[in-house]
Amino acid sequence: MAYSMKDQVVNLKKQATPFYHYDLALLDNTLDAINRAVENTCFKVHYAIKANANDEILERIRLKGLGIDCVSGNEVKKAIQSGFSPKNIAFAGVGKTDDEINYGLDQEIFTFNVESIAELHVINELAQVKGKIAGIAIRLNPNVNAKTHHYITTGLEENKFGINAWELPELFDVLPRLTNLNLKGIHFHIGSQINDLTVFKSLCNRVNDFQTQFKERGIILDHVNVGGGLGVNYSAPNEASIPNFESFFQVFKDFLKVQPNQEVHFELGRSVVAQCGSLISRVLYIKEGIKTNFAILDAGMTELIRPALYQSFHKIENLSQLGEANAKKYDVVGPICESSDCFGKAIDLPETKRGDLIAIRSAGAYGEVMSSFYNLREKAKAYYVS
Ligand code: LLP
Repeated sequence: MAYSMKDQVVNLKKQATPFYHYDLALLDNTLDAINRAVENTCFKVHYAIKANANDEILERIRLKGLGIDCVSGNEVKKAIQSGFSPKNIAFAGVGKTDDEINYGLDQEIFTFNVESIAELHVINELAQVKGKIAGIAIRLNPNVNAKTHHYITTGLEENKFGINAWELPELFDVLPRLTNLNLKGIHFHIGSQINDLTVFKSLCNRVNDFQTQFKERGIILDHVNVGGGLGVNYSAPNEASIPNFESFFQVFKDFLKVQPNQEVHFELGRSVVAQCGSLISRVLYIKEGIKTNFAILDAGMTELIRPALYQSFHKIENLSQLGEANAKKYDVVGPICESSDCFGKAIDLPETKRGDLIAIRSAGAYGEVMSSFYNLREKAKAYYVS
């Protein structure tokens, strides 16, 4: 049955706007779909905490047995405070500070996913000072085009992420000398909101090539981490409320050459949490423009920056007029003093009035975590239903 926010409108009307609304039952169903798809495989899923780090969300994710992928020391801290075992925490990022590395060493996290040869030396030195052996995975840049927005493309040689193929000889040369490192795996992440699954097939082919090079040097890797990136359907949050995890994982089952006793790790963020969250707002004013009508909301780019930053589409619904025919086109905008503060242009909505409740859908990932205080705005509250 298609998902709908209709049943929840009565309760939503009582809250002061704007706020984030999360459906934890949908989150649970999404996590169950992930777990079903990886049952009886050597696949292990980490959740990319950067997508949404709310306590209630993390609790559900922890209870369903996922590990955590972090990109900052505070994310590592948050994951540990939320009850995740350090043994299930991977820590990536091109610019880890000494403090962040030291914290990860103290907590004995599973791996530092190392993004440059310079970083390898620093982690080795800091581990040496502490008399510890750091678990590491090497993040490699596979030069695979994710065919997504250029701001969220990470696996091309022109991007800042990972160690490039031409640096491998140097890597193989220095690794044996860095005795406070324990190389556990290799890591890839080529980008986000990837809907063309053939991209992941290309990634598998590149991973297979890299694996061969490590094998030729007698290096055994416990795991290969292929990152995240699976996209969600922003146009149809009701019909596609749970992403097609089966077909995503099937690509890796079909094309990745897994070595004996090796685990394959994934770092999914968006596909886990995007569809369970909506930003709920009220219409403050309707204003007639030269070419268009503006529906001016009490939420803006400070609550959800994705449309302004990536020109991304989020489905907009008028919850107060659900079921009414779309009668007019509106530019749906926020109150912030920037013309980029626009959630959607020429959006078909029923006749919309001051006070109507508006849902901006699929906002569970990279919504609340990217909010800002610009214009001295207050942080929007979050409410949960289950
Ligand atoms: N692993 C690493 C190392 C990452 O950098 C990311 C996301 C992920 C995993 C999770 O990727 P996902 O499964 O969510 O696609 N703010 C942007 C998205 C930035 C993604 C950054 N890295 C947006 O709102 O579209």
